[in-house]
Amino acid sequence: MMRLVVVSNRVTMPERGEKVAAGGLAVALRSALEEHGGLWFGWSGATKAEPASSVEPVRHGKVTYAVTDLTEAERQSYYLGFANRALWPLMHYRLGLTEFTRTDYAGYLGVNRRFARLLIPLLKPDDIIWIHDYHLIPLAAELRRRGVTNRIGYFHHIPWPPAEVFGALPFSATLISTMAAYDLIGMQTPNDVANLIGGMVALCGAQRDGNRVRSGQRKAVVQAFPIGIDVEAFRKLAVASVRAATQPVRATTAPLGSRKLVIGVDRLDYSKGIVQRLEAFGTFLRNHPEHRGEVGLLQIAPPSRTDVPEYVELDRMSDEVAGRLNAALGEFDWTPIRVVKKAYSRSALSGLYRRAQVGLVTPMRDGMNLVAKEYVAAQNPDDPGVLILSRFAGAAQQLGEALIVNPFDTHEVAEAIRTALAMPKSERLRRFERLYATISSTDIAWWTSRYLAALSGLDIPSGDVVPPGRPKPLRSTRKSGADSKPARLDTLPQASRPAHGKFASVRAKALPNAPSAG
Ligand code: F6P
Repeated sequence: MMRLVVVSNRVTMPERGEKVAAGGLAVALRSALEEHGGLWFGWSGATKAEPASSVEPVRHGKVTYAVTDLTEAERQSYYLGFANRALWPLMHYRLGLTEFTRTDYAGYLGVNRRFARLLIPLLKPDDIIWIHDYHLIPLAAELRRRGVTNRIGYFHHIPWPPAEVFGALPFSATLISTMAAYDLIGMQTPNDVANLIGGMVALCGAQRDGNRVRSGQRKAVVQAFPIGIDVEAFRKLAVASVRAATQPVRATTAPLGSRKLVIGVDRLDYSKGIVQRLEAFGTFLRNHPEHRGEVGLLQIAPPSRTDVPEYVELDRMSDEVAGRLNAALGEFDWTPIRVVKKAYSRSALSGLYRRAQVGLVTPMRDGMNLVAKEYVAAQNPDDPGVLILSRFAGAAQQLGEALIVNPFDTHEVAEAIRTALAMPKSERLRRFERLYATISSTDIAWWTSRYLAALSGLDIPSGDVVPPGRPKPLRSTRKSGADSKPARLDTLPQASRPAHGKFASVRAKALPNAPSAG
């Protein structure tokens, strides 16, 4: 019986409460594992003096958690250093912010090696291993080096930049070549797929054959699997939150009276375009003074990676810009912008989304952006709000009925806010219905089952494009062209057997969800 083993940098244990986690990745992985059961391995989020030499798995329901602490030096070099000062800005096309040191890189490789050593004793021969995110790029290579032959998949939750950008990173050729140790590499969008394959070809001489890429003895399939949310659960949460008028929703919305609300919700991260968004809201109020006193922007921005200097600077700048705009544009009884730097429960957020006439989601670059999908899911279908979405969020490739904007163009974003607030109900309904159909047909169950079916050999879908509102249907058989062959049948002992056990049922369950609407 195949067991799912998920590996991610951060593991959220169930008892830690939902407020803290709330990144798209954490929510998605928890729902995948709670449904299928399995093992979740990664960093506890804590540090201790000595590196652990083994981990003690703990079972909660169907999921077994195996977490390890890092030393403070590892947290500095692996997490804050290489992952978040080198890879994060680089992957978000921000070469100017990229800080590389050899010490950080050595720490990053060291933690990946240690994760491999700690994970191996927990593995069974038929396990299917699913590794997540940029912190763990070389983990499969480390596992292979130690003789692991299981199927190993990777999902990259953030953008992957073109070779010209990625290649600026010292050791980029070595790092990108380790991707070939995976059997299936999932990316958010076709653009990311093209960039990764292009990078492997350009930087380490890999050979490309459609969506397969060969480097040395190994061949990986690279495919887009746009991540989704649990639409139905989030919709219900929003209805319940508004009905119960929970404290944050009541306290935020009661003083608004008939005023309109524009909402932004993001980790306090420079990739999210928060400062540019505040400026755009100021420009909107300057250019359209008739809206002053009638609408407010609520920006919820829980602090993130506060030990990284660029994040400290962003914290300062967002306060400064909001303060300046409020002083210039506010009235004694009206504050145009509120920036709240704390995390709220998902229930409170869902209620606020439903109350807001406009969802302002304008990252400068983003892998997918699940806030965009959550905003749509939370809307009242009889009187929906309008989503304004950056063209540089992966979600824009699916959600074409949003008002799509260039976040670098303050004037364009300001005009989109005006258009959204004035949009007739008939047009809001038309756009909402199509957006909702898209997020429902590519929800989190669809994402998980489509990826796991592909990784476990049931189905490697061919082609990458998931057109807005009309995702590609799953194939019902594994035959047909070369592209539909399962990943790496050659060297993996269990892979040539027909898929069986859990992931067969995963796929069967996925079919009704899969993409007819849209
Ligand atoms: O996918 C983006 C990501 O880095 C996730 O790994 C993580 O859950 C989220 O952003 C929040 O980041 P951090 O774990 O650094 O707080």
